[in-house]
Amino acid sequence: MSSATEPEVKDPYFQSLFADRIGGANYGKSTEIYKFEKIKRAKRNALAAHPDRQLLDFGIGENDAMADEAVRQVMATEINQPENRGYADNGVIEYKQAAARFMKRHFDVDLDPATQINHCIGSKPAYAMLPACFINPGDVTLMTVPGYPVAGTHTRYYGGDVFRLPLLKENQFLPDLDSVPDDIYRRAKLLVLNYPNSPTGRLATPEFFEKVVALAKEKEFVVVHDAAHILLTFDGKPTSFLETPGAMDVGVEVHSMSKGYDMIGWRMGFVAGHPRIVSAFSDVKDNSDSGQFIATQKAAAAALDDDSIPARIKAKYQRRMEKLVAVLKECGFDCEMPGGTYFLYTPAPKGTESGETFDKAEDATRFLIEQLGVVTVPWDDAGSYLRFSVTYVADSEADEDALMAETKRRLSEAKFTR
Ligand SMILES: Cc1ncc(COP(=O)(O)O)c(C=O)c1O
Repeated sequence: MSSATEPEVKDPYFQSLFADRIGGANYGKSTEIYKFEKIKRAKRNALAAHPDRQLLDFGIGENDAMADEAVRQVMATEINQPENRGYADNGVIEYKQAAARFMKRHFDVDLDPATQINHCIGSKPAYAMLPACFINPGDVTLMTVPGYPVAGTHTRYYGGDVFRLPLLKENQFLPDLDSVPDDIYRRAKLLVLNYPNSPTGRLATPEFFEKVVALAKEKEFVVVHDAAHILLTFDGKPTSFLETPGAMDVGVEVHSMSKGYDMIGWRMGFVAGHPRIVSAFSDVKDNSDSGQFIATQKAAAAALDDDSIPARIKAKYQRRMEKLVAVLKECGFDCEMPGGTYFLYTPAPKGTESGETFDKAEDATRFLIEQLGVVTVPWDDAGSYLRFSVTYVADSEADEDALMAETKRRLSEAKFTR
């Protein structure tokens, strides 16, 4: 028989040794529940209450397909080559050369593969390492919110501060760089941007990038442009920050194989731009990991050389996005086709005609999951928004249409107020 009260768990002797950056002696004791854990719990509740109702899952931020078969074939061959077995260190030249060809073909950007490109094990670790190249205690990284937080987290780890630049509809979801106080610019060493932007789906204009280059030179900070979603550009041709005159003097662009090539789990990307910054990044990286498996790098190089792969992936997500935008509009959501990414960012409803009220997007999300079986991700950083991702699992266009019809039925039933 177990006792009614659980025995108190004693702290390990090292509890007081945890570093302040992860909570110090309080590490592991927080009762705060994070956004994605709340979504998981709401999904569990929804399934328990309605075991026969299909969850319509627009919450997943990952491609739903495997990497292209041709890429998997290259991997299958390369995995058996003895010369690929060892430490890859800062990467093989074949991948860097393929990345340089990719940048030339897609953006007409010239890069020296030996000095201006370095691979990374997916782009996430690059955001963890770039602050190590620049941030001393007291320095500032300018970060857009909502956004991908990794560079900010590591800035804080190094004793730096994050200055948040909200992405607002009235500014076309571009940061207002004129609003940054001069004392912040004096401390700023990094500006992290991301276009096509996750989660807002918006694109940057060439004029905005030109302003960024001019400001970087005037205020003396380094620009890191996150191009993870660049091949999922729906409105016109994809634009690299490095196409901007002078961009190469002020920063780097970080590319990812994850979204545009269905290679999320393969962990490949590259940092490209100013040789001195690429060199600093490769030094930090060399002291952090030993490079991605060479077979993976060679398969990723083959992917970069085949433009039909990202074209097909983009066409699929664009088709799905067009269907989703049409359905959400019919259900009263304020949305338009995003310029890129597989995310649709739309203001969260305020409640329902039957009397529910939602103070935050998070409340709307819980209602959508538990009452309607529709999963979205809330963003409450700069206004209250829901993010719908079109990476749901559907094997055919007919399945997509059936899923859309069901989405429309459930969302119109709820009679949201705005
Ligand atoms: C905006 C953005 N940047 C970077 C990443 C990291 O991608 P990866 O590490 O798979 O290259 C993601 C992944 O979700 C993202 O959405």
